[in-house]
Amino acid sequence: MEREVEVKAFYWRGDHLLLLDQRRLPSEEVWLELRDHIGVAEAIKGMAVRGAPAIGCVAAYGFLLGIKAGEKSDRVYDTLKNTRPTAYNLFWALDRMMSALSSGRDLEEEAKSIEEEDYRANRRIGELGMELVPEGARILTHCNTGALATAGWGTALGVIRSAHHSGKKVEVWVDETRPYLQGARLTAWELMKEDIPHRLITDSTAGFLMRKGLVDLVIVGADRITANGDVANKIGTYALSVLAKEHGVPFYVAAPSSTFDLSTEKGEDIPIEERGEEELKNCLGRPIAPEKTPALHIAFDVTPAQNVTAIITEKGIIKPVEREVIERCLS
Ligand code: MRU
Repeated sequence: MEREVEVKAFYWRGDHLLLLDQRRLPSEEVWLELRDHIGVAEAIKGMAVRGAPAIGCVAAYGFLLGIKAGEKSDRVYDTLKNTRPTAYNLFWALDRMMSALSSGRDLEEEAKSIEEEDYRANRRIGELGMELVPEGARILTHCNTGALATAGWGTALGVIRSAHHSGKKVEVWVDETRPYLQGARLTAWELMKEDIPHRLITDSTAGFLMRKGLVDLVIVGADRITANGDVANKIGTYALSVLAKEHGVPFYVAAPSSTFDLSTEKGEDIPIEERGEEELKNCLGRPIAPEKTPALHIAFDVTPAQNVTAIITEKGIIKPVEREVIERCLS
């Protein structure tokens, strides 16, 4: 499929993976050359690459590198699997590579298909989702869900991108997304590159804007969606959903079918990643809290299905967000 957006998080180069180090953005564009699965696992764990669909794609290439090097498949699988616990696309992609291996399919073709399918899914999500975006909409988004977080285009940011490309006038409120600042560093960077009108806000500004009537809709991505429609996403998403409900603002989730974990019943059963407190107590390499202050860094939260107006997938729009509607849409 023809690519219209230049922003790319990774490229497969036949014998290695070229990965944009997202930790260095927006000040520097540094590319890492990853030649083995251990390097790929470190890049995922250390968040050089992040965003559920991008993590899945990169893990598939990591699996390929491990098998090509003659490593045992179970060990390669485990090393990659034990990097980040919440993003379901990681497990989905690794399981798909494992089953390709056991059924004798070409692993390189399988990894490329995972990447290509994700790109196509995002384009379709964009097409379907933009119908929900009114002309002149002021859209609030959280974290980064764009080309950097996927195989290209993006999920929630893909919907915004599609609406903008279709000629609709949109304006984006970009949550900075503490503590890793994916909104400030990455979403703003992607929107700047395409001249999509946006303004950066602190995460805690959302309530003020909604009360003032300055937000028409919220669109976020997802790291895992359970059978009943509960959504795990970047910490702060649940609070946004509660604010949106209070103020009568539609709250949309955009995600490919590879983010749905139908074997998990409900949000409480999702493993939620807790990261090191140093990421919270330091910002851009400098301390912002007393060294010995204890901190809690929960990376994701769960938004209950009843707070979600609709989920936009490449297979259709799930509304209302209920088990039977999800099953029907994804089958
Ligand atoms: O910790 P991150 O940056 O990997 O978290 C990313 C998110 O929470 C995204 O919203 C989610 O993965 C959807 S990306 C299309």
